[in-house]
Amino acid sequence: MNGLHRLEYRGYDSSGIAFDGDDIEDNHVSKSKRACLLVRQKGKVEELEHAVKSLENVAWDAEFTVHVGIAHTRWATHGEPSAINSHPQRSDDQNQFVCVHNGIITNYKDIKQYLMNKGYVFESETDTECVVKLVKYLYDKHKNEKISFQKLIEMACSQLEGAFALLFKSIHYPGELCATRRGSPMVIGVKCADQLAANHIPVMFSKDLNHQNTKDSRNDVHVSETTSSNLRGIFSPPLMITDHSTTELAVTSNDRSIEYYFASDASAIIEHTNQVIFMEDDDLAVVSNGALTIHRTQHGEVSGQSAIREIHELKIELQQIMKGNYKYFMQKEIFEQPESVVNTMRGRINFNTRKVVLGGIKDYINEIKRCRRLILIACGTSYHSAVATRQLLEELTELPVMVELASDFLDRSTPVFRDDVCIFISQSGETADTILALRYCKQRGALIVGFTNTVGSSISRESHCGVHLNAGPEIGVASTKAYTSQFIALVLFALVLSEDSISKEPRRKAIIEGLQQMPELIKKVLQCDKQIREYAEALYKETSLLVMGRGFNFATCLEGALKVKELTYMHSEGILAGELKHGPLAMVDDTMPIVMIIMDDPVKTKCMNAYSQVQARGGQPVLICNDDDHELLKLSHKHIGVPRIVDCLQGVLCVVPMQLLSFHIATLRGFDVDCPRNLAKSVTVA
Ligand code: F6R
Repeated sequence: MNGLHRLEYRGYDSSGIAFDGDDIEDNHVSKSKRACLLVRQKGKVEELEHAVKSLENVAWDAEFTVHVGIAHTRWATHGEPSAINSHPQRSDDQNQFVCVHNGIITNYKDIKQYLMNKGYVFESETDTECVVKLVKYLYDKHKNEKISFQKLIEMACSQLEGAFALLFKSIHYPGELCATRRGSPMVIGVKCADQLAANHIPVMFSKDLNHQNTKDSRNDVHVSETTSSNLRGIFSPPLMITDHSTTELAVTSNDRSIEYYFASDASAIIEHTNQVIFMEDDDLAVVSNGALTIHRTQHGEVSGQSAIREIHELKIELQQIMKGNYKYFMQKEIFEQPESVVNTMRGRINFNTRKVVLGGIKDYINEIKRCRRLILIACGTSYHSAVATRQLLEELTELPVMVELASDFLDRSTPVFRDDVCIFISQSGETADTILALRYCKQRGALIVGFTNTVGSSISRESHCGVHLNAGPEIGVASTKAYTSQFIALVLFALVLSEDSISKEPRRKAIIEGLQQMPELIKKVLQCDKQIREYAEALYKETSLLVMGRGFNFATCLEGALKVKELTYMHSEGILAGELKHGPLAMVDDTMPIVMIIMDDPVKTKCMNAYSQVQARGGQPVLICNDDDHELLKLSHKHIGVPRIVDCLQGVLCVVPMQLLSFHIATLRGFDVDCPRNLAKSVTVA
């Protein structure tokens, strides 16, 4: 349940759990079996908790001897949020097979039709139900062959198309769990009873016990390719028949004092262990009889895959992902920005020598400098960080810089060349559109640079090189501190690429000085919280809010409007002030709420023209401007003053009032800012 709570930020319209119940009689198999209890509930995890606690016939005071449990929090993709559509999905009303799934099965309609023709009746609208029913179908078909759980899951998964991370449990395989992934993340937590055991996780190859791992195996779980067998496709046309050879493998840790935790995100398991294995696509992990084995199911190419699954030690602490003294994670994350930006810069800038080093890309700097163009690709807020820093990247690198929304970039089948450098920006490192765009560019030979906040995420692993944001875990669904850290990481990138340019030196110096002041200046902006709350009180009953600006702060307008939309559910638009006359000005009258960002920078005069045009139509914008710009401060009694900093960094300071404004409007409207409706933290479905 705690694990589910920690995952709630990824999706929260319903949840469910399956675990061992009482022993049951089985006439078909001699070994004893336990019933599988399944509880599913619409709403937040709290509701599920109540439902589980009110289960009849469960002696909650008794010691539990549950060996395997699986659980899930759902964000609906197929089928409305309801108990029946939530996971675990089940094969039948005895819960013989149950399964949880993160991702999307694209050929589920074909599988469903096939199984319906065989007499299967479906109860949910999910794509996942066809997976678990397919497993049951195969189990019945191969019953006499005493097929292993692993083989069964392998056979089923060979028929699936799409992206998935799947966990299976079955009453027919007591104490066993199977996990596999393709395109969706899955991490295995390994917890040992004592430290000694943790230092000596025994490793052996399942096929050849003589090949015990010879080196100290504390950190590596080895996968070797030893056998192959053929799998037959189970369908007749029109489904594709797949005929894969299976590379089987693996590695066994057979110490029974070890507990294993499987999750799509390490935050769900970090309170139990910080020792984790990241599963690769087409890995099949099996826990049986207390031992973990990792096998390769053959779907893609084996050759490109490493034969080693390392055990990593995660550095995040549980309290890092707790709320602290704040009511909401989002609020905590906004107020953490003075520290999170320092963490992004830590060890990377020497403020005395003005040397900037990004260790994760240093071996690729020359290649990057020689590139044809830089293409920055991301979604949502991460995309806005690219828009925010594009001008500076162009200025300091003198390279053509494209900024792209990942989904649109793919829709257009954008031409990409070997001498392009493609930069993928993502807080989670798991956004499906961004990952698909990354693979698209990688196939075309471009150099892939990842900017992510999540160590071990798919994007960081699939990039050739990269920069970790080091902003700390971001739990609030609306991105705040990740944005400012992305902004700063991209500025550092521009500084690194321009370090040889003598003509750029004065500019670099001003920027580095600005970065040094940044944490203190963010603290100053945060002191406006009370004043911003008052503006929010005046605005929260409105239905619309326009945010206008240009130049370095156009991205701030886009990002500010996105925050307002996703948290308050009001209509909001980020408008380039230069575009006002081309349409948006028609919306302006004396009732339209407007925020205008006017900084004392090279586009100030143009912004002032826009301000006059808006005022001439009765508009009375709240201004976000420099706190020492007395000329402007006199013009409007509604303003939020932010400290002055070099123009290209001003966006970091200007976005903070917008984060606070959207936060206050949302809470005044009575909404839970950590869980905005219809949204999930990690969008792992394209
Ligand atoms: C908005 C927000 C989203 C994400 C977007 C990309 O507050 O959080 O727009 O920025 O879904 O997510 P990442 O950065 O994880 O790739």
